[in-house]
Amino acid sequence: MIIAANLKTNHNRTKTAAYLDTIEEYIKEHKSKDRAVVFPSMSSLCPSRERITIGAQNAYPVANGSFTGEIGTDHLDELAIRTLLIGHSERRHILNEDIGLIKRKFDFFAELGYEIFFCVGEPLEIKETGFESVLTYINRQLDGIDLTYPKLVLAYEPVWAIGTGKTATKEDIIAVHSAIKELSDKPLLYGGSVKVENAAEILAIDGVDGVLVGTTSWQADKYNALLASAQTIKE
Ligand code: 13P
Repeated sequence: MIIAANLKTNHNRTKTAAYLDTIEEYIKEHKSKDRAVVFPSMSSLCPSRERITIGAQNAYPVANGSFTGEIGTDHLDELAIRTLLIGHSERRHILNEDIGLIKRKFDFFAELGYEIFFCVGEPLEIKETGFESVLTYINRQLDGIDLTYPKLVLAYEPVWAIGTGKTATKEDIIAVHSAIKELSDKPLLYGGSVKVENAAEILAIDGVDGVLVGTTSWQADKYNALLASAQTIKE
């Protein structure tokens, strides 16, 4: 299982370091075999830990240059970061990243061999028009993305479930995950209001290879509880 934490715009450098220390201690103490991945905020990026992969929430598809507010591979290389989130709904819908830019990022970083966590998911108005529309929407987000890329991790994150406390139902997750699994055999995570209380049930669903978690993951003890849930599933 992959237990991924998206820290979004939370935790400064000091807090992130303490957060990672707590998680790493837990992993070592409980001999957790699940994969821990953390995406800190840009200014809190640091090299991966022995047991925690650090990924960047965003990067621009360049080594360096004049792209105010962005970072490129020079900045990732300095920290030996080789994992990247692309297509998160907040970048698509709040920062207005369009499908063209997202595809450009995917192609650029895939060419360089980065591990890519690629997010898809429909907004509420699409969900309300029915399952076929949801699939059409997601297919469009995946169009042109190399779904055989060896270092690809997919994440289904319905926009209406992100940060709202409204988790997708088991039936929603099964339906969408099995459709995506028909397109790609790469690991597929669920994200959207994953909580300590529902993590075990979600992780136990066939076709769910892990979770990508926002709010709940921001507290190290809750993140560790997610790792504990993953551990029970396998045993
Ligand atoms: P929440 O867990 O806060 O719903 O956020 C999910 C998410 O966006 C992870 O990338």
